[in-house]
Amino acid sequence: DKHFKNKFRSGYVNIKGFSMPKRFEDMQEDIYNWNVLSDKDVWISSFPKTGTTWTQEMVWMILNNLDAVKGQENLGFRVPFLELSAIFDHRESIKNNPDFDPPEFLADSIKYCKSLKSPVCLKTHLPWCLMPKHIQEGTRKPKIIYVTRNPKDTCVSYFNHAKLLEGYSGTFDDFCRLFLAGKLTYTPFWEHIFPYWERRHQSNILFVKYEEMIKDLPTVIRRVAQFLEKDLTDQQVAFLTDHLSFASMKKNRSVNYDTLVEFNKKHNLTNFDGAFMNSGTVGSHKTKMSPEWIEKFDAWTEEHLKGSLYSLE
Ligand code: A3P
Repeated sequence: DKHFKNKFRSGYVNIKGFSMPKRFEDMQEDIYNWNVLSDKDVWISSFPKTGTTWTQEMVWMILNNLDAVKGQENLGFRVPFLELSAIFDHRESIKNNPDFDPPEFLADSIKYCKSLKSPVCLKTHLPWCLMPKHIQEGTRKPKIIYVTRNPKDTCVSYFNHAKLLEGYSGTFDDFCRLFLAGKLTYTPFWEHIFPYWERRHQSNILFVKYEEMIKDLPTVIRRVAQFLEKDLTDQQVAFLTDHLSFASMKKNRSVNYDTLVEFNKKHNLTNFDGAFMNSGTVGSHKTKMSPEWIEKFDAWTEEHLKGSLYSLE
């Protein structure tokens, strides 16, 4: 734990079994008492690095008649990240930089989300137990799309992300240890997934896997559109498949986080040479993870999946 604090960030708290940044405590009640106004609201929920941005762009496009021109606005404004201000809280080196001019959705993410007109479309990484009371108790039924990904690729992607945007300077070995020990933000991983997975048959919940999107994106687009009660023609599905391809998303500045990445690189806040979107594949851990870590992750996964119908693909 000491090691973790030294190498990464300090001020972690355990909230209902999940590792959360301290600042989240100030938001917890506000979020729990969130006034979910409409069943037409859409909440995109996920564990970090599982395909959230991909899903956000897909959902926004489907809800907005595939308007790629309006879609040039930064995704942070279009599908804001509810608890972003808490996540960003420890980045003093960025926040105190005179060149940094935080957009509204970052400066006070809760306030920004509250300012949106209903129906809203939000992103969150919150585990089920920290979601609004209305949602947990089922008194309101906004649409919830939960996306997930296999833990080994997720861990590699999270490591790159932590180096690129979170100021992590530790080793990959340490990162894997923290991942399995449930010491990274939003971990433990399986405890994040299962409560959503168990509710996958609820009519207002759609459960999607990154691996399904990689395997057959048009089918997932159709499933998401149907869930959102939007009709898409074959031509629109083809357009969206192209718009959401890895190559297209990687160069789309409204979704690829390049502004923040460039800021971090310019100010020497990262020692990682990659981008927000790196592999965009299934099995990316194979070139990064040692056989020993693969074995540990596999055993840990098997343990958690015992007796469950959950499959990794
Ligand atoms: P990698 O780090 O493996 O490249 P999130 O949005 O939840 O942070 O997830 C980020 C991961 O989704 C990154 O994985 C990123 O490359 C991948 N991703 C984003 N858009 C994608 C797309 N259009 N096709 C495939 N993968 C995509």
